[in-house]
Amino acid sequence: MSQYSISPTGERFQLPAQEDYSKEFGRLEDVVQNQRAFGREIVLVMGLGFVGAVMAAVVADATDEKGNPMKFVIGMQRPSTRSFWKIPLLNRGISPVSSEDPEVPLLIHRCVNEKKNLIATFTYDALKLADVVVVDVQCDYLKEALGNIREGRADMDALEESLEIIGQHIGPKTLVLIETTVAPGTTEQVANPIMKKMFRKRGIKADPLLAHSFERVMPGRNYVSSIRDFWRVCSGVNDEAKRRVVKFLKEVLNTEKYPLTVLDRPIESETAKIVENSFRATILAFLDEWSLFSERNGIDLIKVINAIKVRPTHSNIIFPGPGIGGYCLPKDGGLGVWAYRHIHGFEDDIFKITPLAVNINDTRALHVAQLTRDALRNMGRPIASAEILVLGASYREDVGDTRYSGSELIVRRLTEMGAELRVHDPYVLHWWEFEKQDEYPASSHSLKRFFRGQEKLKDLGVEQDLKKALYGADTVIFAVRHKHYLSLDPDEIVKYANGPIAVIDCFGILDDEKIERYFQLGCEVKGLGRGHVKRIKDQVRESKSQLPLDIPMQFAEDKM
Ligand SMILES: NC(=O)c1ccc[n+]([C@@H]2O[C@H](COP(=O)([O-])OP(=O)(O)OC[C@H]3O[C@@H](n4cnc5c(N)ncnc54)[C@H](O)[C@@H]3O)[C@@H](O)[C@H]2O)c1
Repeated sequence: MSQYSISPTGERFQLPAQEDYSKEFGRLEDVVQNQRAFGREIVLVMGLGFVGAVMAAVVADATDEKGNPMKFVIGMQRPSTRSFWKIPLLNRGISPVSSEDPEVPLLIHRCVNEKKNLIATFTYDALKLADVVVVDVQCDYLKEALGNIREGRADMDALEESLEIIGQHIGPKTLVLIETTVAPGTTEQVANPIMKKMFRKRGIKADPLLAHSFERVMPGRNYVSSIRDFWRVCSGVNDEAKRRVVKFLKEVLNTEKYPLTVLDRPIESETAKIVENSFRATILAFLDEWSLFSERNGIDLIKVINAIKVRPTHSNIIFPGPGIGGYCLPKDGGLGVWAYRHIHGFEDDIFKITPLAVNINDTRALHVAQLTRDALRNMGRPIASAEILVLGASYREDVGDTRYSGSELIVRRLTEMGAELRVHDPYVLHWWEFEKQDEYPASSHSLKRFFRGQEKLKDLGVEQDLKKALYGADTVIFAVRHKHYLSLDPDEIVKYANGPIAVIDCFGILDDEKIERYFQLGCEVKGLGRGHVKRIKDQVRESKSQLPLDIPMQFAEDKM
């Protein structure tokens, strides 16, 4: 029976059949032969996800001093029902990832349709043609408990499988550059033995040329430049691998302006990534307790942070929002803690701050449900069966990536508490964490298992029309700083909701003027770290109570 892969816009693509593989390889051999005639190196990027799809295009776009493309790039993606659609889309010159960066679609279109040096394929045989393989597959950390990262493990299945396949297919002189974020020690102690074993089986005596250089990509407005125009760290398992990776990165990235840091060993490059992200996770988690302190003591943490930020030494202090989310920060610390025991064999427990930070970030969003409950209670409305609109499904502003977003936890907890949820997000067409909650992100690893009463969330659609989403809502939760939400007018919101609502600000989106207006309109406002809203509420109440009794409220507000 034919199997299909369906793109986010609903287009169905039939998965390749057995006989398609040899045809596909024949096509690739012809194209590669032509490209070699131009003197181009053949680069295969394995895994066309958020990183691989754009990295492939950045490599294809690189030119020599005369402006000629130096590489021919084959994006390779396994033909799973979930991901196969990326291949035909990319071959049309359409980006498989949606982004706010206008350069992403232009870059992919240019390389596929104009320069014609970027194609995508599903056959592993393509690896036989590569001079360089860039590995951009995932390496997950599977958590077994909510808010306890120690109960979990690195899931290296996709990475290990990819390395085995690479070892079975590539030539001995092919450089394999692992960009995947891995548990420190992976390149030398996991990848190298796997590849060597495969080489020996094939009678290849040479040692594999393995290197590591992690990605610092930020899918958002500067998606492309966060790959191309950004500092890189790298290393290789031996001198030749190191030489080759430095040469490759210098050819494809803007290393003149953003110099490369070459470390002695891959474990140092791997550790740099984990420490970098654990540092970020820690400074974000640190503000969770000060956020609660602020809420309970009449302080606006947003203004406090802005006051601190003017000091150059503290300019990277940032408000955490409803948890951190994204693919990297929730897992990378776990990969480090796990590696200490399971790759390096230590039994003692040296990690305190790194796991604590991840645990705090992973559960911060639950507090939003408490604020919602309290705001509705102040309005005399029970949370059970309240109609709650969450504005923003993705983990950060102006991207369509929903992985581990704080919004998911908000929806799950409030559903558990009996509320009816609806969601609006201009960037997200399908919220797979709900739509496919029995298999996504992996079977039996949905956050669903930590909450009760989640079955109906399979039908949670993402509304694109804000007015429609607002109609009849009891509560609006500002969960993500998408640009669409920054200047929404309280009067309009209340008008479309058809009456006063509870408003929950998770990200310092509302200024004091807007908060005041919501109170004037009879709404209740609460926010993460925003203890001062009570003061604004009292002021609004006081000014209302001072009005002569015979002035109708609406008229009185017009005079204010
Ligand atoms: N997304 C980010 O913002 C970001 C930033 C920095 C680093 N990283 C790291 O980059 C790596 C990749 O992340 P991502 O966000 O692109 O992940 P992703 O899940 O979006 O993409 C991985 C892709 O690899 C494919 N894949 C898996 N096994 C394969 C195989 N055997 N052959 C071919 N394709 C295969 C998957 O189908 C998927 O399309 C991760 O280690 C991540 O931590 C990601």
